[in-house]
Amino acid sequence: MSSKIPLELTLAILKPHVVKNPIVLQKIYEMITENGLKVVRSQRKIITLPEADLFYQEHRQKFFYNRLVTFMSSGPSDILILAGENAVLKWREIMGPTKVFQAQYSAPDTIRGKFGLSDTRNATHGSDSTESAEREMQILFKDFDSKKWRETDRSLRDLGQKMKLDAESFKNNIDESSVDREQNVK
Ligand code: CMP
Repeated sequence: MSSKIPLELTLAILKPHVVKNPIVLQKIYEMITENGLKVVRSQRKIITLPEADLFYQEHRQKFFYNRLVTFMSSGPSDILILAGENAVLKWREIMGPTKVFQAQYSAPDTIRGKFGLSDTRNATHGSDSTESAEREMQILFKDFDSKKWRETDRSLRDLGQKMKLDAESFKNNIDESSVDREQNVK
């Protein structure tokens, strides 16, 4: 990773019906890593109704709002902070269109095209802008400081250190074996 394009952060949610299906979950993990996105934070938790309400506040007036927040708090979700060049757009491209019928028709190889069940159970969520990502990370990763992350992990990336995926926590950590103690970075 020697490119100088700044890393972007985005928030991804693998929704409750996906977490209940280990095969689909594994396929989505593979699509994340194969597309070069790095997992900065990862947690599995039940999103509470108040969190879902805050998270989806822009949809409060929509006909599907109750259905959406009830579903999102119905069981554990995998919530990820992803990093990469143009991560917001890249993750949205990997997910495909919000509406599953449209995804199945026009983008069958995307996550929603493959694994979406309905417009509510559309498999995954992704931030629509870097500003939304910041807001969403503050709701679901209260301890995460993106400014600090930019000053540390990102500058490590710029030095060329490698990120290694820890399969158990599904999170990328700095690969210690890539660090040359004398010269800092191999
Ligand atoms: P998500 O990316 O989580 O952001 C908003 C969510 O609202 C969206 O995915 C869908 O799950 C849901 N949504 C959007 N449009 C509809 C719809 N027409 N009917 C039901 N749910 C919808």
